[in-house]
Amino acid sequence: MSFTIIGTGRSVPPLAVKNSDLSKIVETSDEWITSRTGIKERRVLSGETLLDISEKAALAALKNSGTDAKELDLILCTTLQGDYITPSLACMVMERLGAECPAFDINAACSGFIYALDLASSYFETKRAKKILIVSAEHLSKFLDWSDRRTCVLFGDGAGAAVLKAGESLLALSLRAKGNYSVLNIPSNVPPTPFDVSGGYQKKQFLTMNGQEIYKFAVTTVAEDVISATKKAGITADDIDYFLLHQANGRIIDAVRQRMNQPESKFPVNLMNYGNTSSATVPILLDELNSENRFKKGDLIFMSAFGAGLTSGVCIIKWGY
Ligand code: ACO
Repeated sequence: MSFTIIGTGRSVPPLAVKNSDLSKIVETSDEWITSRTGIKERRVLSGETLLDISEKAALAALKNSGTDAKELDLILCTTLQGDYITPSLACMVMERLGAECPAFDINAACSGFIYALDLASSYFETKRAKKILIVSAEHLSKFLDWSDRRTCVLFGDGAGAAVLKAGESLLALSLRAKGNYSVLNIPSNVPPTPFDVSGGYQKKQFLTMNGQEIYKFAVTTVAEDVISATKKAGITADDIDYFLLHQANGRIIDAVRQRMNQPESKFPVNLMNYGNTSSATVPILLDELNSENRFKKGDLIFMSAFGAGLTSGVCIIKWGY
């Protein structure tokens, strides 16, 4: 007994920042950003909070699944950081929804949604839940150095959600982490206490990364995950109907697709519209396809993500089971 996804939802902020807007604040161009990443614009929180878009994504997923918030047995949010350090974003979403169940956040960076599926799966297997809401919501824009062209062009804000119930959809799921924090990180920045002599908390709270190292890690890891997860599921890459890969960079997605010798039609992308929204990319893409009625019962859907940590996760589901 594992899970099946019975509803999805998403919400992104209305403010779209185009590549041409960024070229007014840093030395960059639409041509550079498009050719290196595929991104054309990203959504940025301005008049709303992360909680607001999390609530909208959650409500959309509840509606799509025909679930009342009171039926939920668990709410999991995946986020780098909610609007508050404590309480968790999940508890704040719960209050907005009027749910009555345990709620907590998971931080596995961009791999968060897959990590949440894994955790949800164990709740169903141990019969501790009948329905679980996952909300992956990210406010990346607050962690960006908007004068650093190497990073500020890549990311955006957004939220994706899914409602799960006990079911038989899961064919393969595995998680990995390398325990690396030099390649990609966001330091915590707090004023030093009178006792702190480490200096460790005074770095600027901006995202920094080694883009080329991430690129190599991503292509290798996702390609390995396709091979190992399909083997575990007793299928091949040819049997997969849709590959929903973490929407970090179009070139990474294309490199994986070519290594797997698969057609473009199996690799939907939306990163041109949103940039990299960390753990929200996969559920936002999932909801876009679901709301366009692209999935048929029995379709095999491959989802994978990679991120800071360095974490990665992969999941294959059979839609509608
Ligand atoms: N506009 C113009 N020039 C730029 C920009 C920009 N936005 N950003 C960097 N450059 C310049 C650099 O300054 C450098 O110039 P220099 O040679 O004069 O110093 C030059 O372009 C090349 O810089 P690189 O960092 O080597 O550029 P690269 O070709 O590697 O592309 C990129 C950078 C797009 C980040 C690439 O490394 C990549 O795709 N990495 C994958 C990582 C990724 O996608 N990260 C985001 C997701 S992370 C995650 O989700 C966990």
